[in-house]
Amino acid sequence: MSAYRELLRGKLPEKEFALLPRSFDVIGDIAIIELPRELAKRVKIIGAAIMESLHNVKVVAVEQGSHTGKYRRQKLRIIAGEKRLETVHKESGMVLGLEVQKCYFSPRLGSERLRIAGLVKQDEKLLVVGSGVGPYPLIIAKHSKASQVVGVEINPVAHKFAVQNVIKNKLQGRVICIKGDVSKLSEGEFDRIVMAIPHEGVSLVPSILRLLKKGGFLHVLDFTEESDIDAPSRKLVELCKENNRKCKILATIKAGQPGVRRYRVCIDAKVS
Ligand SMILES: C[S@@+](CC[C@H](N)C(=O)[O-])C[C@H]1O[C@@H](n2cnc3c(N)ncnc32)[C@H](O)[C@@H]1O
Repeated sequence: MSAYRELLRGKLPEKEFALLPRSFDVIGDIAIIELPRELAKRVKIIGAAIMESLHNVKVVAVEQGSHTGKYRRQKLRIIAGEKRLETVHKESGMVLGLEVQKCYFSPRLGSERLRIAGLVKQDEKLLVVGSGVGPYPLIIAKHSKASQVVGVEINPVAHKFAVQNVIKNKLQGRVICIKGDVSKLSEGEFDRIVMAIPHEGVSLVPSILRLLKKGGFLHVLDFTEESDIDAPSRKLVELCKENNRKCKILATIKAGQPGVRRYRVCIDAKVS
């Protein structure tokens, strides 16, 4: 992925060359890169180099800030290629249609999704909270013997893509998508709940405990500092206790490094 840098060697002053990122995300055929301010005047040549180095990339977009708001959306600016932000991404045998500026999706969570699918037992009923365009529900349904996976998503655009993605992947019936706020979900009793909203993390758990069977499993994404990796799991145990549930932490898995000495973690727990 850093092959584009070689194409730019000698074409940029050394100081600027040193600032070129060594990696970026590719979602479907769209490359999304974060550039420092110092390279703002070089976007054209950088975009062209990415297109030249990766023949499957048809659009290059540059990040305009980080993910924000309840829907976790990110502003992007197209710097090379076609003028569109809709694409189809392939992950673990599933096809996922999405619009990258209107819906959150991270290809970096692919192995974490497969890890959770591998923990699911036969006939389990699962809930995925913050299911976006459907990657967790679809990949869990495809790679496990779950009887049903329900996804709940508040962003109407992401929900619309999730519904289409279920049909595209022929998983109607086994994957159900619900549009709305999880705190309003009144029905359901699940063997396992995946909470994919790390910026809210464990603090959202009290609003879903009523939906988790006694002895059920929880997987909660959260952010934490390297100096205190276990802070979210301690908080999770406390929150369960306050809600008269007993929580046993099974594992804290590092699932990405969004900043220096900062991790995205997934806490696996059994709640009785
Ligand atoms: C970090 S994204 C994860 C999306 C998806 N699971 C993925 O991995 O691509 C979090 C998602 O949670 C949704 N969300 C935030 N609060 C929510 C709530 N209260 N109920 C349902 N969905 C919510 C956002 O709209 C967003 O799509």
